[in-house]
Amino acid sequence: MDQASGLRQMVRKKAHDVDGSGKVRKSAQSPFPRVISVTSGKGGVGKTNVVGNLAIALRRLGKRVLILDGDLGLANIDIIFGLNPAYNIKHVISGQKDLSEVIVEGPEEIRVIPAGSGLQELVHLTQGQKLNLLNEFDTLDEDFDIFLIDTGAGISSNIIYFNIAADERIVVATPEPTSITDAYALIKVMFAKYDTKTFKLLVNMVEDAEEAKSVFENLSNAIARFLKGISFEYIGFIPRDGNLEKAVKQQCAVIQRYPESASSRGFSELARRLLASSVNGAHDGNIKFFWRKLMTRQ
Ligand SMILES: Nc1ncnc2c1ncn2[C@@H]1O[C@H](COP(=O)(O)OP(=O)(O)O)[C@@H](O)[C@H]1O
Ligand SMILES: [Mg+2]
Repeated sequence: MDQASGLRQMVRKKAHDVDGSGKVRKSAQSPFPRVISVTSGKGGVGKTNVVGNLAIALRRLGKRVLILDGDLGLANIDIIFGLNPAYNIKHVISGQKDLSEVIVEGPEEIRVIPAGSGLQELVHLTQGQKLNLLNEFDTLDEDFDIFLIDTGAGISSNIIYFNIAADERIVVATPEPTSITDAYALIKVMFAKYDTKTFKLLVNMVEDAEEAKSVFENLSNAIARFLKGISFEYIGFIPRDGNLEKAVKQQCAVIQRYPESASSRGFSELARRLLASSVNGAHDGNIKFFWRKLMTRQ
């Protein structure tokens, strides 16, 4: 850490310890929110369910969580949270709404920023619009500990940029061969073209821990051989669980509807592991920094 960022961190720590009313707002050890993208090569592997359930599990461990719904697919986070947002980030860009009016509250005080059709517009912002948007994001760093991004699947530029701008990337894969090869393709593009070197793997829809491990080993061997210099960390697995499917049909997160179910326990374990795991590399980001990186890319 250089001197400037050290100082900045100190100042931020102070600001976070106590707010205007004298209430302690934020733990001094974590002055910056962690910005984590949840991504995959192939669609339908469970990203949105991971984001929704992980958010609730983290909340139950005392973390304040903000989600960016960047997945334009059909079954987005609104469905499993039973939300029906009236506005999205487009309305913030156009100046019609403040960010606070666009953010919606999901279960257990989780907050969601719907990206909606605004996603495409992020590419065409003027300098003035970028500054306005960044100012809107200014306050969020103090209000949240974790910023989770549901990126959508594949290697289109929006998805890649979300992943580059995040501090940490959780790649979700299943034991299905195409999911593994597509995960590898995503990691390869991000490394070869954008020099992104740290990835965490979550294996979803497995029979048991052994099956998850073999997916990890498979990918990890290929990465060690062909993509030298990448740090690839196993962060856990979620079992295939009929109750998760049932919960989705009822427009609920499984961890709420069936808290004792195998996948729900998996999400709680994932939240614990994530909090115990370090942020690979220098963690100097925050939510505003994420947006700045995102917009200057484009
Ligand atoms: N652990 C799991 N067990 C059983 N089914 C799952 C599991 N994870 C995901 N699914 C199924 O896959 C579908 C797609 O999940 P979703 O989270 O929408 O994927 P993505 O966001 O990657 O497209 C879900 O509706 C559910 O039916
Ligand atoms: Mg999705």
